Amino acid sequence: MCGIVGYVGPQSALDVVVAGLKRLEYRGYDSAGVAVLSDGSLAAAKRAGKLVNLEKALVERPLPSGTTGIGHTRWATHGGPTDANAHPHLDNAGRVAVVHNGIIENFAVLRAELEERGHALDSETDTEVVAHLLAEEFSATADLAEAMRLVCRRLEGAFTLVAVHADDPDVVVGARRNSPLVVGVGEGEAFLASDVAAFIAHTRSAIELGQDQVVELRRDGVTVTGFDGRPADVRSYHVDWDASAAEKGGYDYFMLKEIAEQPKAVADTLLGRIDAAGSLTLDEVRISTAELREVDKVVIVACGTAFHAGLIAKYAIEHWTRIPCEVELASEFRYRDPILDPRTLVIAISQSGETMDTLMALRHAREQGSKVLAICNTNGSTIPRESDAVLYTHAGPEVAVASTKAFLTQLVACYLVALYLGQVRGTKWGDEIRAVIRDLSKISQEVERVLKTMEPVRELARSLATKNTVLFLGRHVGYPVALEGALKLKELAYMHAEGFAAGELKHGPIALIEKDLPVVVVVPSPRGRSVLHDKIVSNIQEIRARGARTIVIAEEGDEAVAPYADHLIRIPATPTLLQPLVATVPLQVFACELATARGNEVDQPRNLAKSVTVE
Ligand code: G6P
Repeated sequence: MCGIVGYVGPQSALDVVVAGLKRLEYRGYDSAGVAVLSDGSLAAAKRAGKLVNLEKALVERPLPSGTTGIGHTRWATHGGPTDANAHPHLDNAGRVAVVHNGIIENFAVLRAELEERGHALDSETDTEVVAHLLAEEFSATADLAEAMRLVCRRLEGAFTLVAVHADDPDVVVGARRNSPLVVGVGEGEAFLASDVAAFIAHTRSAIELGQDQVVELRRDGVTVTGFDGRPADVRSYHVDWDASAAEKGGYDYFMLKEIAEQPKAVADTLLGRIDAAGSLTLDEVRISTAELREVDKVVIVACGTAFHAGLIAKYAIEHWTRIPCEVELASEFRYRDPILDPRTLVIAISQSGETMDTLMALRHAREQGSKVLAICNTNGSTIPRESDAVLYTHAGPEVAVASTKAFLTQLVACYLVALYLGQVRGTKWGDEIRAVIRDLSKISQEVERVLKTMEPVRELARSLATKNTVLFLGRHVGYPVALEGALKLKELAYMHAEGFAAGELKHGPIALIEKDLPVVVVVPSPRGRSVLHDKIVSNIQEIRARGARTIVIAEEGDEAVAPYADHLIRIPATPTLLQPLVATVPLQVFACELATARGNEVDQPRNLAKSVTVE
């Protein structure tokens, strides 16, 4: 949510910053802006709308060249997406510029105080107060980092701030509380960004900033302190993917590339999980096996697509470990006073590792004494850092706003966690665990096979482009798959799409069925609990009898469904619990193609942002 870039070094700051913003546009695209220091003065440009509007403005009215600069791409919270509300925000003298990600909760009080002191603020944002406060503190200290520390101590809420001052021309200062900010260290240059993708083309050497820290960036190095001014401990790390991973690689959209990358992502997430002794391992575990044996309840918290991965995980966790498992939307979790204690294991699932709702849920759980295990795709992000154990998904950078490969790898990670719990608690034998891992290892090829048969799905999607509603039905693990199929369609095609448990249909939603309404049905394997399969075949007949156009996703060899399917999408036979790994793929392709057919922006759907760092 909002992308931030800062640069100091020998290159044109504008070029580096704009290229960085392009990589961060997935975080928000309501407006974009830049500020550059040049010959003792500060020049800024900003425009409502996508980055391309700013780029056009920069061609029409180029900024003077400079080698220190900052930039921002916005997902609006306070104030609409206008030029005036776009970042950077400047003080009245135009000497300091600041960009911000997050929400400054006490901005109204600060603004009133500033206005009383004669400052004129002209945007509706919470951010602008920071530019004015920094200007005041800089006139007193002549030190931008110290000014930032003083200002941050007065701010409440979640914020990442990056600022430059015309009187301190070779310095960029950043601050972080709750929202992400990473430092990139190059040869004679340094970078600040919300995500390493912004500077990966220049350096793979990164520094993770902690909570309540201020960083001062100079050509010859970086200095990190706490808001209290004391030197801070930081962790340096090497980014293990390169710039090409964040490019479209010949695909029209990131989403298409990311769908195609799923076989590799699934395989990578499984890599190296079995140690020399044949036991399953997680990446970082700061929970003892004794504590894990004591766990009497698992609670999964997550948002959006990650929440759907959690819903599927429940089936595996309860089946393989016999521990009761609840799954909760992170945004609801802490407000209902959930029953948590040291014997509750909370699993936080998040692609970005920065989703504020999920972060707040995990903090609440830890305050209650529960242990938290994170499943995350972003190394060094806040959620894994604040958790007691981590299992990283190795999906690589996911740029398209609608999550695809991260979802499949979250599922793999959830299965691994369930097996790990089974291993620690002795509810699964080693050979049983290895048998599931063998089944999981075959999934990568099966996903590959599904991807090769998607043309009829694309054709079907195009034929439905003028429809208003699509319903999705599933049972057992197919129910969360139906929810995910519907979410994808809402996000991308802006269509009314609902997922239902097929058995629940008769209790109300069947009233929605009318002639020619497309209904996608995810059919469980007939080789699993055949009663489930038989019941869904009946459900398909019920809706068909009422005129629905049935789009049936069923395992190869399942002939029982064929007579009732207006469109039949085949998926490979897999063990029941693993079916979501293959059944979701056609739904991703379906939504992506429908979005394209309706002329929508696939990678940047309206109103959305990939990483939502506000509650
Ligand atoms: C946003 C994105 C969704 C994503 C959700 C959770 O709403 O648009 O695609 O599933 O956040 O994100 P996370 O990074 O926590 O998995």
